[in-house]
Parts: sequence; C-alpha cells; structure tokens
Amino acid sequence: MARGTWELHLLLLLGLGLRSQGALPPPCESQIYCYGELLHQVQMAKLYPDDKQFVDMSLSTAPDQVLQRFSELAEAHNHSIPRQQLQEFVQQHFRAVGQELQPWTPGDWKESPQLLQKIADARLRVWAGQLNQIWKKLGKQIKPEVLSQPERFSLIYSKNPFIVPGGRFVEFYYWDSYWVMEGLLLSEMAETVKGMLQNFLDLVKTYGHIPNGGRVYYLQRSQPPLLTLMMDRYVAHTNDITFLRENIETLALELNFWTVNRTISVYLGGKSYNLNRYHVPYGGPRPESYSKDADLADTLPEEDRDVLWAELKAGAESGWDFSSRWLVGGPNPNSLSSIRTSKLIPVDLNAFLCQAEELMSNFYSRLGNDAQAERYRSLRTQRMAALNALLWDEQKGAWFDYDMENGKNLEFYPSNLTPLWAGCFSDPSFVDKALKYLEDSKILTYQHGIPASLRNTGQQWDFPNAWAPLQDLVIRGLAKSSSPRTQEVAFQLAQNWIQTNFDVYSQKSAMYEKYDISNGGQPGGGGEYEVQEGFGWTNGMALMLLDRYGDRLTSGTQLTLQVPHCLVVALPLQLLLSFLPW
Ligand SMILES: *[C@@H]1O[C@H](CO)[C@@H](O)[C@H](O)[C@H]1NC(C)=O
Ligand SMILES: *[C@@H]1O[C@H](CO)[C@@H](O)[C@H](O)[C@H]1NC(C)=O
Repeated sequence: MARGTWELHLLLLLGLGLRSQGALPPPCESQIYCYGELLHQVQMAKLYPDDKQFVDMSLSTAPDQVLQRFSELAEAHNHSIPRQQLQEFVQQHFRAVGQELQPWTPGDWKESPQLLQKIADARLRVWAGQLNQIWKKLGKQIKPEVLSQPERFSLIYSKNPFIVPGGRFVEFYYWDSYWVMEGLLLSEMAETVKGMLQNFLDLVKTYGHIPNGGRVYYLQRSQPPLLTLMMDRYVAHTNDITFLRENIETLALELNFWTVNRTISVYLGGKSYNLNRYHVPYGGPRPESYSKDADLADTLPEEDRDVLWAELKAGAESGWDFSSRWLVGGPNPNSLSSIRTSKLIPVDLNAFLCQAEELMSNFYSRLGNDAQAERYRSLRTQRMAALNALLWDEQKGAWFDYDMENGKNLEFYPSNLTPLWAGCFSDPSFVDKALKYLEDSKILTYQHGIPASLRNTGQQWDFPNAWAPLQDLVIRGLAKSSSPRTQEVAFQLAQNWIQTNFDVYSQKSAMYEKYDISNGGQPGGGGEYEVQEGFGWTNGMALMLLDRYGDRLTSGTQLTLQVPHCLVVALPLQLLLSFLPW
C-alpha cells in the first residue's frame, strides 16, 4: 500500500474512532446558524417563542465580525451573558426575518383556469377560485443579495421564484412542493412548476441531494423523495421532453443519494434485501428547534445525545416530524426521547423510491436508453420482492414499517397503503385487501378525514391530526381498484376531506397545514409549533380532488360511509373479490 493511501486510511480510522464516541459532525458548516456558542446561548435564552425565528434572521455584517464581537461579549460576561445584553447583541448584528425574500406574483397565474368549469357545486366552485387566488400570496422570490453575500443568510439561494407552504414556512420545502405542483398544474401554471423543478435540480447538482427545505440548517437531511414524480407530472402536462432529456442524469443523481447514503440491508430467511431508511448521521440539536432538542437531551449522558439528535433529524427527514411511528425505542412510547427513526424501514419511503424507479425506467425508454431503462426496471423488481418479503402482511392486508429489531410495526398509519398509491404492487387483489384493512382498523368511521394514526401522543403526525398528503396516499390508492365499491369509498373519503377543508375555510377564511378531525374538523394542533395557515399542499390536494370528483363533490353534506361500510362487514372477502374481473 502506498504511504499516502495508508495515512489516509489511518485518518479515516481515527475519524471513525471519534465518531464512535458520539461526536457527529454538525448539520452545516455555519458557526452562527448550525452550531457553536452564539447559537447555543441565543437559543437557550429563548429570546423568541419559536427557535426558527433566530436562525432565519440574516446578518447585518460579515460572519467573522459577528463571531468576533460575540466572543468579546461572551468573555466579558464569563460566558454567561445576561438576557438583556444578548437581546441587544442580536438586535445589533442581525436583521429581522423575511427581508431577503420578496413577494412574487406568478407570471403565469390565471383568473379562471379550466378546472373551475368542472366543479358542479356552486359554492365549491367559488371556493376553488379563492384557492387559485392564494397562489399569489404564497409566491416568493429571493433577493439578489443572497446570491452576492450568501454567508450573511441562512436562506439557500434559488434563482427561480417559487411557491412556499405558508405561515412560518417562508422557504421551499421538498415534499410539500409535490402537492403544490399538482395544484399549480391544475391552475395552468406550468411555467412556475418548471422554475421550481429547475431549482430542485440545481440543488441536486450543488449538494448531491435535495435538502429538507431552503435553509442551510436543513442541508444534511432530505425529505421524502418525490423529485422524479414531480418531473413526471410536469412532462405529462407539457410534453416537454427536452427538459426531461436535459435533466435525466440529475434525477439519477438524486436517486443515487438515496442508494449510497440511505440504504440498509436486512437478512431474513437466508436472503439479503436492500431497502431504504431515513438516516441523518449529523449531531447537535436541530438549529430551528434548538432549545427543544437540547432540553430533551438534558437527562441523557453526554455521549448519548448526538444519537438522539441524529434520530430527531431522521424523523424530520421523513416528513413525519414527529409521530408515534418513530417512537419505538424507549421505555415511554409517548416520549420523543424514544425516537429511533433510523431503525425502521418505512413503507412510504420505499414505495416512493419504487415508483421513482419505474418512472426512471419509463423516462429512459422514452429517451431511447434501453440499458438504463432495464437497470431501473430491475431495481424496481428487487425492491418489490423486498417489500413483499419484509413489509407486506398477508393477514392484515397491508404493508408495515419494518423495525430492524422487532419486525413489522402493526400500528395503523395511512402510509401503510403507499404502495397502492405508488403503483408498487404486483397482485391487483391488494387494493381490495387494503379496503378491508381500513375497515378492520375502523378508519372509515372518521368522518372528517383519515387521521395520521390512532395514537394520541401529542405529536403532530398522530391522532387526531389529519394531513392532506396522507389523504392523497389513501384516496388515490383505493381509486386504483377496479372494484366499484372500493372506488366509491375513495370518493367518499374525498368528499369528507373536501367538506372539512371547506367548512373550516367558511369559518376562518383560511386553509391550514393540518386538521384536527376529533372535533368536527378544526385547524390541527400538537407538536412543536402553532398550526400554520396557507397552505401549499392542502390547497394543492383540494384542487386535485375537485379536479377528479368535481362533478359529484358537494359543499353541503357530510356523507357517512354507511353503504360500503355495511357491504364490507356483511360480505366475506372472497365474495367481494369474486366481483372483480380477474
Ligand atoms: C467563570 O465561570 C467559571 C465556570 O462557571 C468559574 O469557575 C469561574 O470562577 C468564573 N470566573 C470569573 C472570573 O468569574
Ligand atoms: C453521502 O455519503 C457520501 C459518501 O459517504 C458522503 O461524502 C456525503 O457527505 C453523504 N451526504 C450526506 C448528505 O450525508
């Protein structure tokens, strides 16, 4: 072995040695926004009700100068700076939140997209028109100073304007943007979608993956991988094959990140399977929830804290931050300190990737690259076999997150049906089995939307909250069935969700990121911050349902699920299946 290589190897071992003692690298390089004494002191003083506020402020001078002044201040006070002085320091060296973003009215916005004509119910049609107006409020453009002096901002520069979720979320978010884009395409705003897609592709070229959101403190974690699907929707709408051809390799690069950085092997029944997980091996509290993460770790020995913080980041990467889904590692299953996201193989993540592999295979076929088309087809085949072997439960009729230590987690989550939505199943009877699974789990008795789970932990991705993307996973999954009854349940779930969105909108003139379904349908609660208005993916999902079922949806009645409910209870599964054509 050449000497240079050997030295490198030694360094690597030393590096690994350090890691095994629990010192993981920080979530980004910035000593202001991601780690260090300044961040620690300001966040632990809890100067703002929401920790995100401080890390979203920009600097009024160069970072070196801010750090120098801070170190002087810290020394003057023997590293315990009184609150008042800390507040003055922040006022002097930071600028108020949001100044680096300017409102943007999309150039392709239209007053009356065709979609509106499809909506039979007059009140729903007016409401859809108002949802279409909201895009103008959610449009943002980044000011050029963020490009010229990036070191002064936590915001990551993107050249094209974009649509944000709303509320405290004034930057882009990865998986939110998929439902936003579906809505935008229905609003005939394909140019806006193309710009957002281009931003994401640029991020992949720069960082090798798409960060959770548009801030440096989100850099080392991603979010559910839906970029390939975004491209598919855009191309299906515009037939812009040139754009696809120009960017196919960047799509492949993003999927490669999930393969290289997020694969896990499981051995079962003498076979080895490769699947994916959420996993963020970076330490320290999440900068945007710093004091919460620090307080949570307070009771742990120092050497265990980074592991907890890494699991919290992996939970954030899943998009389900946070949920009982990930709280499977401690004595108290309702405490966030039990989080161990990376020990689970999630159904939804693997279904999203399975779908991406199919889309890539189709894209490459279209572009005439048969070798790559075949490669992705074979990756998909392998993944489907792994899903069947590890996650599918024949008795329950659904897929379940696979806990590396304890096997399948049989709790109800809407994500358990993601393979239907993603078209990632080989046996058509799975769709109707899934209906029975929903029935057995008593999910169809909830009239205001499908809850994120049946466990009330106080976390926001748990009962009684319901989220737009999770309605989509179930509704469009069931709608794939050729059974009229299953399709009817899909429609009625759509009616319930539209009713909740519409009723709350009628009372509050606002759309929300999540809804509390326990209470007749209200804005949701729980978790780490107040419920936010806006709201990108909720609006996108409402427009999708209005597009698909606009001829039947009504504003006035909460349909009960009586009809299919009784049928499913009364008829044995075999009889139900005997109605199907195969
Ligand atoms: C500074 O703080 C340290 C630790 O809290 C303490 O031991 C030390 O005596 C302090 N020094 C002064 C000059 O107050
Ligand atoms: C992904 O893994 C590669 C190779 O180990 C590493 O260099 C890179 O930093 C990782 N990316 C992230 C975001 O962790």
